[in-house]
Amino acid sequence: MEHQVASAEETMAFAQQLAGQLQVGTVIGLVGDLGAGKTHFVKGLARGLGSDSPVSSPTFTLVHEYSDGVCPLYHFDFYRVDHAQEIEGIGWDEYLDEAGIVVVEWADRFPALMPQNTQWWQISIGEGDARTLQLLKQAPQPAANHP
Ligand SMILES: Nc1ncnc2c1ncn2[C@@H]1O[C@H](COP(=O)(O)OP(=O)(O)OP(=O)(O)O)[C@@H](O)[C@H]1O
Ligand SMILES: [Mg+2]
Repeated sequence: MEHQVASAEETMAFAQQLAGQLQVGTVIGLVGDLGAGKTHFVKGLARGLGSDSPVSSPTFTLVHEYSDGVCPLYHFDFYRVDHAQEIEGIGWDEYLDEAGIVVVEWADRFPALMPQNTQWWQISIGEGDARTLQLLKQAPQPAANHP
């Protein structure tokens, strides 16, 4: 499935309506270059779950939790993570077992940590503010570490 959007607002609106269709326990892996719009996608998910929490990339912590929606949304970002053990060490398996939704920016840094039934969404940057949102049929290849 592929969806074209023309602005950050449209990316958020797409994720907002997607959120309404998600079952509790869904895990979403976001893939896309720097500035593709992964955090905006998460903002839309949070809004769609009825959360008014400010959404920002959990860059220096590993996870932000938005608990004021219909179910908790656990927002991870693997960008600065060097070793999978850092993620496992904060209770990754427990988050996966929670009655909430897990969304991970840069999930392709550690695809092996992501469950088999992960919904993989790739955001590709086009001209200007254009983006292509694509539901991937399979997990992406592991992305290289960043300098
Ligand atoms: N169609 C679009 N969807 C999302 N963001 C867009 C779009 N067009 C322009 N933008 C802009 O691109 C930037 C996306 O920032 P955002 O933090 O969401 O990206 P990101 O993929 O999370 O980046 P990072 O890899 O640094 O975490 C914002 O400045 C946003 O306004
Ligand atoms: Mg981000």
